[in-house]
Amino acid sequence: MRTVYGTAAGCDNPTMSDPDVFDDLLASLGGFYRSWLIYLGLELGLFEALRSAGADGLTSAELAAATETHRDAIDLWSWAADAHQLAELEDGRLRVDPDVAATLLDRDRTDYLGGQFVHGVVATLDWDGMLDFFRTGTTIGERPDRYRTAIERLTQQDIAVFFQEALAELPQAVAELSQGGRVVDVHCGGGRWLIAMARRFPKIQLVGVEFEEDSVARARQHVEEEGLGDRIRIVQAPVSKLTEPGTYNLVYFQYALHQLPDAVAGLRTAWEALAPGGRLIVLDWPLPSDPEEFRTRHGELIAGVQLDELYQGTSLATRERFSSWFAEAGLPEPALIDLPSGASLFVAER
Ligand SMILES: C[S@@+](CC[C@H](N)C(=O)[O-])C[C@H]1O[C@@H](n2cnc3c(N)ncnc32)[C@H](O)[C@@H]1O
Repeated sequence: MRTVYGTAAGCDNPTMSDPDVFDDLLASLGGFYRSWLIYLGLELGLFEALRSAGADGLTSAELAAATETHRDAIDLWSWAADAHQLAELEDGRLRVDPDVAATLLDRDRTDYLGGQFVHGVVATLDWDGMLDFFRTGTTIGERPDRYRTAIERLTQQDIAVFFQEALAELPQAVAELSQGGRVVDVHCGGGRWLIAMARRFPKIQLVGVEFEEDSVARARQHVEEEGLGDRIRIVQAPVSKLTEPGTYNLVYFQYALHQLPDAVAGLRTAWEALAPGGRLIVLDWPLPSDPEEFRTRHGELIAGVQLDELYQGTSLATRERFSSWFAEAGLPEPALIDLPSGASLFVAER
């Protein structure tokens, strides 16, 4: 089909679209199916199995056996993955490129995209009311637990960004935390950042505050599995219940401040919880302020995420909005650090 529309004859035919426009839109449609193929490959362990097989690759029968999946479905996935350049099918054996596998599977990379695909697909399972939202403004209200589990996969990238990009910008904080201190993660989700922090800074004590019941249960389970119950405490509460003034050396919000019903009050409470010399750090993915910034791959992704946010009654925020929340809360103007990944840090010291 592409060959026909891409010919010079196609360009001159007024009943056919511009081949570039057609090609671009067709790629987007393919991208929709590609996202599903990636999601299936991640959730069913297909990419993991292929990576383990290395250069030998696997036949689809071997892949189905290794992942305990349905043979016919894996036959389809194999040639579809090849068509979408997610793997290469040659002489009946399927191989995954190491770079593709790393970008989709390695959670400690700042360019880890596996969580983005899981979140993108899982979030859209809830979009049956999206048309209604556009007509009436009615938001989704409650989301199923699977959504927050997917968020935990998504924010694995945030954790990589924090450790590799953010800490490189904060040498003083690293030096202080290495000596010990108390740290709180506000709306900690499944607690993965707390666990990573506990490992990186063996002398600190940590608290995770989270208000969603299923996330609290996951966070407590992960902490227990890691044997860190003596250093990490998970408290079920909203940020407004963070009532230990002057206690913490670091209060952290990861991809959470913009979702709070009252971000200003959240910041004020967080600030009061800081000990003298303590730091308030917000890591988030700001909404571009400049239309040009939307016209990038990153901007396309942010636009999709914002669709999901608005539908659930929350919103991403611009850098200016984050700064204005600090001002409204009566806090000092935070240092704004734009990180290479596209995330931003807002840092205020008490
Ligand atoms: C996108 S999640 C991020 C979770 C975690 N920080 C992470 O990085 O995985 C946003 C967090 O904001 C919290 N949150 C969302 N809406 C909220 C609300 N209305 N009140 C209080 N907390 C809320 C959720 O419980 C969730 O933990």
